[in-house]
Amino acid sequence: MSIRFRLLISFMTTLAVTVLVFFLTAYLIAFAVTGDARSISRFYNIHYTLHPLTEEEERIFMEMKYLAKENPEQLMNKALLGDYDYQLKMVQAGLIVRHNQDLLFVSPSIREPGIGAALPDYEMGNYSIRNSINVGSRFFSYAKFDFPFSEQDRGSIFVIRERSPFAEIVRTLLPILIVVLLAILLLTSGLLYRYVTRTIVRPIHMLRESAERIKEGDLQFEFKPESDDEIGQLGLTFEKMRQKLNESIQLQLQYEENRKQLLSNISHDLRTPITTIRGYVEGIRDGVADSKEKMDKYIHTIYTKTADLDRLVDELFLYSKLDLNREPFSFETVDFLAFVRDMVEETELELEEKGIKIVWEGVRDAKVLVMADREKLKRVFLNLLGNCVKYMDKPEKRIVIITSVQENQVTVEVRDNGPGIPPEALPHIFERFYRGEPSRNAKTGGSGLGLAIAKQMVAGHGGRIWAESEWGEGTRMFFSLKIMGKSGDE
Ligand SMILES: Nc1ncnc2c1ncn2[C@@H]1O[C@H](COP(=O)(O)OP(=O)(O)OP(=O)(O)O)[C@@H](O)[C@H]1O
Ligand SMILES: [Mg+2]
Repeated sequence: MSIRFRLLISFMTTLAVTVLVFFLTAYLIAFAVTGDARSISRFYNIHYTLHPLTEEEERIFMEMKYLAKENPEQLMNKALLGDYDYQLKMVQAGLIVRHNQDLLFVSPSIREPGIGAALPDYEMGNYSIRNSINVGSRFFSYAKFDFPFSEQDRGSIFVIRERSPFAEIVRTLLPILIVVLLAILLLTSGLLYRYVTRTIVRPIHMLRESAERIKEGDLQFEFKPESDDEIGQLGLTFEKMRQKLNESIQLQLQYEENRKQLLSNISHDLRTPITTIRGYVEGIRDGVADSKEKMDKYIHTIYTKTADLDRLVDELFLYSKLDLNREPFSFETVDFLAFVRDMVEETELELEEKGIKIVWEGVRDAKVLVMADREKLKRVFLNLLGNCVKYMDKPEKRIVIITSVQENQVTVEVRDNGPGIPPEALPHIFERFYRGEPSRNAKTGGSGLGLAIAKQMVAGHGGRIWAESEWGEGTRMFFSLKIMGKSGDE
C-alpha cells in the first residue's frame, strides 16, 4: 500500500469518525436535555415545550390559571392584568389575554402585528399547554390556558417569553449549517492531505528517482532538497552520499588511469635496460667484445643497467610496503638541524657537478630534537631534491633550503627556481603514480612515486608535507615534524 493511499485512508477515516462523533454528540445532548430520543430536528420545540417558562413565570402562570378557573371575570380587569404584566416584565416575560378572537391584553414588549393570528386555536381540554410560535422574525415560547369566560365566551391566557432569534436561526438553518460544517471539514481534510503529500510523498518520490539514477550509474546530477525538515535532511545526506560516491569513483578512475600509465611506464622503463643488457650479453657471446677494454665497457654497462632496474623495483616494493603499513620505522632522537647540515654537505658536491647551487638559510644554530627514522628522513630529502634537479629548466640553477622553528614543530622548505607546478596539478602531486604533464615528464622519466613515498614517510613521523608553486617561477616544498625538545637560539 503506498503512503499516498494510506494518507488518503487515514484522512477519510478521521473525517468519517469526526462526522459520526459530531452527530452522536448532538444526538446524545438532545437526548439528555429532552429525555426524548425521537429526533434532533424537533429538539428546540421539545426543549421549549417542556421548559417554556422559568420557575417565577410558572408561579405567575399558575396563579392566573387558578384565577381563570375560579373567577374568570377578574381577567377583564385591566389594572389586575397590568399588575401581572409588571410582575412578568420583571422576569423578562409577557402576557396575552384573549377573549374569543379579541386580544384583551398584550404586553407592550411583545406587541407584534401578526401575533393574534399566530396564536394557537382554542383547545378547551388543555392537552397541549406549552409550545412555541413564530411571529414575523421573532420566536416565542409560551404556556397557555384555555378557559370559559362565561356560557358562550372563551378565553385564553398566554404567559409568553421571547427566545433568542439566534436559536431560531440555528433551528431553521440546521441542515444548511451541517452541510457547511461538513464542507469545511472536507475542505480542511483535502488541504491537509494535499499539504502532507506535497511535503512528504513528493520529496520521497524525488529521492527515489535520484536513487534510481544512481543505480543506473548516473552520478552527474545534483539533488537539492526542498525543505530542511527530516526528509530534507535525509535528502541532504543522500546528496552528500552521492558526492562522496562520485568523488570516490572519479578517484578510482584516476587511479586506474595512473596504474595503466604506470604499467606502461614500468614496461618501458624495464624494457629499455633489458634490451641494452641483452644486446651487450649477445655481443659478449658472439665474441664482439674481443679486447679487454671492450669487455670492461660491456660489463660496466650491464652493471649500471641492472642497478637501474634494481632501483625501480625497489621503489615499487617500498611504496607498496608503505601503502600496506608493512614498512617498519626505527625511530631515534635526531638533532634535526645537524641532520639538515649533513644532508646539505652531502649533496653539495654532487649538485655542484650538475651546475646547481644549494644554499641553506633560516634557523641553523639551535638544538631541535625530533623523533625520526634517519634513513627515511634522508629519503624524503633526496626525493624532494631529486625533483628539483630533475625538473630544473633555468640556466642559473638554484636550490634554497630554509629551516624554521615554530612553537612545537620544525619546518623545512625546499625551494627551487625550476618550472613550477601548474595549479591544476598541484593538488595531485602527492598522489601515488601521479605525474605532471606527460610530455614534459617523458624525457625525465620516473614512476610518479617519489612524492607519494615522501608523503607516506612524513606521515609515518606524524608530520605534514605540502607544496606551493608559482607556475613558471619555481616550486616550494615544505614538510614539518613535531619537536621533542629544543635549546639554543632560534
Ligand atoms: N620541483 C618540482 N618542479 C616541478 N615539478 C615538480 C617538482 N616536484 C614535483 N613535480 C611534479 O610533481 C610530479 C610528481 O612528482 P613525483 O616525485 O611524485 O614523481 P616523479 O618525479 O614524476 O617520479 P619519481 O619521483 O617516482 O621518479 C612530477 O611528475 C612533476 O610533474
Ligand atoms: Mg620525483
